[in-house]
Amino acid sequence: MALSALIGFLLLSASASAHCTRELLIEITDKYVAAQAAGAFGDIVELSTPNVTYTENEVPVDITKGVLTEPIQMDHNRSIHDTVECATFTEIIAASNPHQYVIGTRMIVTDHKISLIESIVTDQGDWAFNATGYEYWNSLENWDPIPEDKRDTREVIQTSGNAYFERFKNESVVVPFGVPCSRLEGGASTAPLNMTGDSCTLAGLPSTLVVTNRRFVVDEVMGVVDIFLGFPGLDRSQGQTPMPDSHMFRIEEGKIRYIHTVSSCVEAGCGFNGTIPTSRRVNRIRHN
Ligand SMILES: *[C@@H]1O[C@H](CO)[C@@H](O)[C@H](O)[C@H]1NC(C)=O
Ligand SMILES: *[C@@H]1O[C@H](CO)[C@@H](O)[C@H](O)[C@H]1NC(C)=O
Ligand SMILES: *[C@@H]1O[C@H](CO)[C@@H](O)[C@H](O)[C@H]1NC(C)=O
Ligand SMILES: *[C@@H]1O[C@H](CO)[C@@H](O)[C@H](O)[C@H]1NC(C)=O
Ligand SMILES: *[C@@H]1O[C@H](CO)[C@@H](O)[C@H](O)[C@H]1NC(C)=O
Ligand SMILES: *[C@@H]1O[C@H](CO)[C@@H](O)[C@H](O)[C@H]1NC(C)=O
Repeated sequence: MALSALIGFLLLSASASAHCTRELLIEITDKYVAAQAAGAFGDIVELSTPNVTYTENEVPVDITKGVLTEPIQMDHNRSIHDTVECATFTEIIAASNPHQYVIGTRMIVTDHKISLIESIVTDQGDWAFNATGYEYWNSLENWDPIPEDKRDTREVIQTSGNAYFERFKNESVVVPFGVPCSRLEGGASTAPLNMTGDSCTLAGLPSTLVVTNRRFVVDEVMGVVDIFLGFPGLDRSQGQTPMPDSHMFRIEEGKIRYIHTVSSCVEAGCGFNGTIPTSRRVNRIRHN
C-alpha cells in the first residue's frame, strides 16, 4: 500500500470509529427494546463493551441478573437519539404485563458499542406509579417528529427543559411553558387541572429545591430533551438523599408541551403515607 493510501485508510478508520450516526443509535434502541420484550439480555451484552456500566435505579447490577432477563409485554416504547453525545433515551410503558413497569433508560455508545446503560425501573410503590394511567395519558399526546422547518436548535431544546429545574431553586426564573402543557408523573397527569391550558404551573413547583447530577440527551428531530438527575426529598423516608429520576420534555417552538417523569423510591409509597401531591391533586379534580 502506498504511503498516501495508508494514511487515507488510517484517517478513514479513525473518523469511522468516532462517527456517531442517528441510524446507529436507532438500531441500538430498536435492539434494546426488542431484547427487553424478549428478556434476551444476551443480545444487549453482545452490543456492549466488555466493561459496560449497567445500573438500575443508580445501583450497579449484574446485567445477567437484572430486568433485561425478564420478558416484558409492552404497550408503548419511545426512543430519542443524540448524535452529539452519542446517547439515547428510551421510555417503556408496560401496563398489560402481569408485573406492571414504567422504565426509562439512558445509554451511551462509544466506538459503536454500548458503554453505559442506566435504567430507572419503576413499579408499584414508586412515585405516583400507575402504568395504566401512564399509557392512557401518553396515548392522548402527539410526539410525532417535528417538521423540518419548525425544528429548534439543540441549545433551545436543552435550555427550555433545563429552565424547569433552574426554576426549582429560583422563583424568578421564567419557564417557557406552552399552552397546553401537562406533566405526567408515574401515571398521574396534571392535564385534568386544565385540559386546554398550562397545567404544568398549576400543579405547583418547588422554589428551594436543587436537583443534582443532570445528564442530558437531546434530539432535535423529536424536539425532546431527557434529563437524568438526582431528586432530593422525593422519598421522604430517605431525607434529602437524591433519588434516581428522569424528566423527558417535549419542546415545540421553544415551549414545553409535555413532561414525562420516571422516579424511583427506596420505600414503597416514597415515605408519603399515600399523600403524594400530584396524584392527590389530580384525583381530587377528577372526582369533583
Ligand atoms: C472500559 O474499557 C475502555 C477500553 O479499555 C476504557 O477506555 C474505559 O475507560 C473503560 N471504562 C470503564 C468504565 O472502566
Ligand atoms: C416499539 O414501538 C414501535 C413503534 O411504535 C413498534 O413498532 C414496536 O413494535 C414496539 N416494540 C415492542 C417490543 O413493543
Ligand atoms: C390509574 O390510571 C387509570 C387511567 O387514567 C385510572 O382509571 C385509575 O383510576 C388510576 N389508578 C389509580 C390507583 O390512581
Ligand atoms: C434567579 O433568576 C433570576 C432571573 O433569571 C436571575 O436574575 C437571578 O440572578 C437568579 N438568582 C440567583 C440567586 O441565581
Ligand atoms: C385553562 O387554560 C386556558 C388557556 O390558557 C385559560 O384561558 C383558562 O382560563 C384556563 N382555565 C382554568 C380553569 O384555569
Ligand atoms: C408518614 O407517617 C410517619 C409515621 O406516622 C410520619 O413520621 C411521617 O412524617 C409521615 N410522612 C409524611 C410525608 O406525612
